Amino acid sequence: MIVSVVTVSDRCSQKLCEDKSGPLISELLSDIAQTAEYVIVPDEKEVISTELIRLADEVRSDIIFTTGGTGFAPRDVTPEATKAVIEKEAPGISEAIRQKSLDITPKAMLSRATAGIRGKTLIVNLPGSPKAVRESIEIILPVLEHAVETLQGNTQNCGGNYGRSV
Ligand code: MTE
Repeated sequence: MIVSVVTVSDRCSQKLCEDKSGPLISELLSDIAQTAEYVIVPDEKEVISTELIRLADEVRSDIIFTTGGTGFAPRDVTPEATKAVIEKEAPGISEAIRQKSLDITPKAMLSRATAGIRGKTLIVNLPGSPKAVRESIEIILPVLEHAVETLQGNTQNCGGNYGRSV
């Protein structure tokens, strides 16, 4: 599976801070995915959307993960930039992250993250902190390979029990 990582941060894009969350995403997925591209962009809706389109349509990433810009701060626009480029919503992914994250911190309510599909690429917003990235990836990791398989038109495993003893 080919993933791309987009860190959305004014400060990191100006090299005023070191981005820990973007590299962490690649590391957490290293058993199941190769990272094709890793970019850092400012909290600018047009810049984020343009980068998402390129990573989906030209790089043909199976999944694009964004990190940061999902909260309530005046310049947080990652969900809006994502909604502008997706063709289908994938609300279950963001719902699961928010719901399970609420068991860890009530601040999970403050993430407006979204997820959706553009062509054969899944785009998933993650919050910005390394802690939140780690917790969120753990939640969705069990479904990522199946998500990519079904996006590519392979639905053979849909009836499987994925190792559950039921
Ligand atoms: N989700 C998890 N799992 N763990 C966290 O620590 N932090 C929250 C939330 N989601 C958090 C989380 C906080 S403090 C904020 S402000 C929002 O994500 C938005 O983060 P962002 O603006 O960096 O995207």
